[in-house]
Amino acid sequence: MNQDQELRQKAMNRVEEYRDIVNLDPYRLHYHIMPPVGLLNDPNGFIQWKGVYHLFYQWMPFKTGHGAKLWGHYSSADLVNWRHEEIALTPSDWFDKNGCYSGSAIAENDVLHLFYTGNVRDGEGNRETYQCLAVSKDGISFEKQGVVARLPKGYTAHFRDPKVWKKNGSWYMVLGAQTENLEGRAVLFQSDNLKDWQFLGDITGSNTDQLGEFGYMWECPDMFELDGKDVLIVCPQGLEAEEMLYQNVYQSGYFVGELNELKPWFTHGDFEELDRGFDFYAPQTTKDESGRRILVAWMGVPDQDEQSQPTIPHQWVHCMTLPRELHLQNDKIVQKPVEELRTLRQNEKNAAISLNQGTEKLDIVQPDKAELFISPKVIEEGFEISFRGAARLIYNKAEGIITLERNSYVDEKTEARQCRLQELRNLNIFLDASSIEIFVNEGEEVFTARYFPYPGNNDVWISARKEIIMNVTSWTMA
Ligand code: FRU
Repeated sequence: MNQDQELRQKAMNRVEEYRDIVNLDPYRLHYHIMPPVGLLNDPNGFIQWKGVYHLFYQWMPFKTGHGAKLWGHYSSADLVNWRHEEIALTPSDWFDKNGCYSGSAIAENDVLHLFYTGNVRDGEGNRETYQCLAVSKDGISFEKQGVVARLPKGYTAHFRDPKVWKKNGSWYMVLGAQTENLEGRAVLFQSDNLKDWQFLGDITGSNTDQLGEFGYMWECPDMFELDGKDVLIVCPQGLEAEEMLYQNVYQSGYFVGELNELKPWFTHGDFEELDRGFDFYAPQTTKDESGRRILVAWMGVPDQDEQSQPTIPHQWVHCMTLPRELHLQNDKIVQKPVEELRTLRQNEKNAAISLNQGTEKLDIVQPDKAELFISPKVIEEGFEISFRGAARLIYNKAEGIITLERNSYVDEKTEARQCRLQELRNLNIFLDASSIEIFVNEGEEVFTARYFPYPGNNDVWISARKEIIMNVTSWTMA
């Protein structure tokens, strides 16, 4: 067996060996993408090709920590039911031996192309980075083509995560980078044939004329057109927390503006966070065959106490967010769960809640797999919803603040994430066995988090500060 075959065999043995331990975990999710065993992080190579959605992911099958990543692979006809496919890439060559790191997919001439970063450590442990290509005719087995772009001068080897697109007959690749002065940057390459890539330069970043200090490294950039503007999504590392902003270890957000590929330069507005919750990083988008821009993110953050997650004893950790459709409204991204998710809805229940300083238990059949839609008619001062004793959503109308609290999986203390809200029109909430995603006002704000309720606690309570009148519709996600 060669190295590639050995790694595949070893990974599949691990899946078999730990299947029961993994599946006995009450925190296994019902309708989110997870690793069969081990650790999952970034979504990679997200694309719809010949009708089928492909979502690859950073996978460490051999432990619940990081290391020399493989590309795991899920496919789906509908963004709802996913099938685990053969491993797409293993770190088995000199140019990717310490990890087939994150990247993207494009289709050209009936061939699926994956661009990814080959992570390499030399004999002294120094990092090297190579941008690599692998191709497939069937979308399942990939043939590596080796290195297509190398590290330009002026940057450290923290230079990775290629996202590729076509514009006016030319191919472009954006990467996350760090300058030798330890400034985070997004950089651009160009190609006419997908094999030879020219370095064009920085397009924006920390300590450029558009931004002050803005992080020592930028990861996982994504550049695309959305409703007539150019959007750069990126994950800066090294931002200081500011009031309600930048509360997680690393950030994930976007700039709206205009990309000039020739200069090259991206002229843009302020950085906006994509998510207000605890666990959201490395999002990747694709434009599907119906023209929708769809985003999936890792429901986790690097270096955020992951070894304390209660799923670790069951030999797995992390999951993906639900797929979300993106739109731009007044230069702000709004995110809506894709409409296909409605096919999971069963047992619809409607409740009219009317409370005055009281508390009422919501009648939700299976809150470990449920969707809720809440439309308030009257909110006098505010209200609070408690989810299975492990998370709370608090709306303070007078202060115009919405807060998600959860019991920390590190020490069970309460921790909070917040944002300002001018008005509350509705809430669309997705509960899974150990995740919560809250879409506020049709996706103007989103809170994404893992949470770990005691398995026996299935109570969802709502309490009113003064008067509230609202309709609550709920479904079981079957
Ligand atoms: C982001 C990241 C990427 C890298 C990958 C490695 O979470 O650090 O920059 O390609 O994960 O798994």
